[in-house]
Amino acid sequence: MTLRLALDGAVFLQPPTDDDLVQLARRAAEPGAVLPPAEAHFVTWIAGRTPQEIAQQRIARVQANRDLTRRPGWSLDLAVMVEEQPVGLQSLSGFDQWPHHRIVGTTSWLLAAFQGRGLGTRARAAVLELAFAHLRAESAKSWVLDENRASVAVSTKLGYRLIDRHHITEHGSRYAEGVFQLDRDAWLESRARRRYRPAITGAAHLVHLLGR
Ligand SMILES: CC(C)(COP(=O)(O)OP(=O)(O)OC[C@H]1O[C@@H](n2cnc3c(N)ncnc32)[C@H](O)[C@@H]1OP(=O)(O)O)[C@@H](O)C(=O)NCCC(=O)NCCS
Repeated sequence: MTLRLALDGAVFLQPPTDDDLVQLARRAAEPGAVLPPAEAHFVTWIAGRTPQEIAQQRIARVQANRDLTRRPGWSLDLAVMVEEQPVGLQSLSGFDQWPHHRIVGTTSWLLAAFQGRGLGTRARAAVLELAFAHLRAESAKSWVLDENRASVAVSTKLGYRLIDRHHITEHGSRYAEGVFQLDRDAWLESRARRRYRPAITGAAHLVHLLGR
């Protein structure tokens, strides 16, 4: 049974098929498809690359991540599906010390036309539920540039707290970045969980692989 995180109605997350992946990668590689040029540094995979490189690297990364037994660390990439069409990617990663330290990270992006409608919040909440309620994660972390207001807002709405701030340098520019953390008990008891909790099916294989 395929893993599926149903958010509501016709919106769900599931591992992308090769067709989904190629379609998503090609669309994401079009200039401005995910972020306007001035904000391309919000993610690590756009700035400084040609559309062809973006598409190839997106596909290669997701295909390489499919083998979740390759340790250290793992990344589960889920396509955000709206009316059966892939419109973005929501990833959940276990860091190197998994399963001794059960800390996960999340990254996500949506095609611009699907941003700002609450989809990013629900997609992140869905993988938090998978991580905390099924994979027994202890905490989730997120690294976000201060200027990425949408991503900061998603973390804040879902109950993460800011635990650190520092500066990073990318492509010769210096940016302020916050580190946000959400712990298991805080999520399990939160109002955000009650509001956004997805219906998760087909997780048994994943729990067997990663949950112990
Ligand atoms: C980050 C991202 C996944 C969030 O998904 P989304 O669907 O756009 O976010 P939501 O619609 O759930 O909005 C979350 C909150 O951000 C707020 N927000 C969005 N853009 C904002 C902005 N420019 N300034 C301030 N707040 C903003 C929204 O108002 C919303 O809060 P509210 O529900 O209280 O009004 C999406 O915007 C995206 O793909 N961005 C480009 C890629 C990216 O930056 N990824 C993250 C890398 S760390």
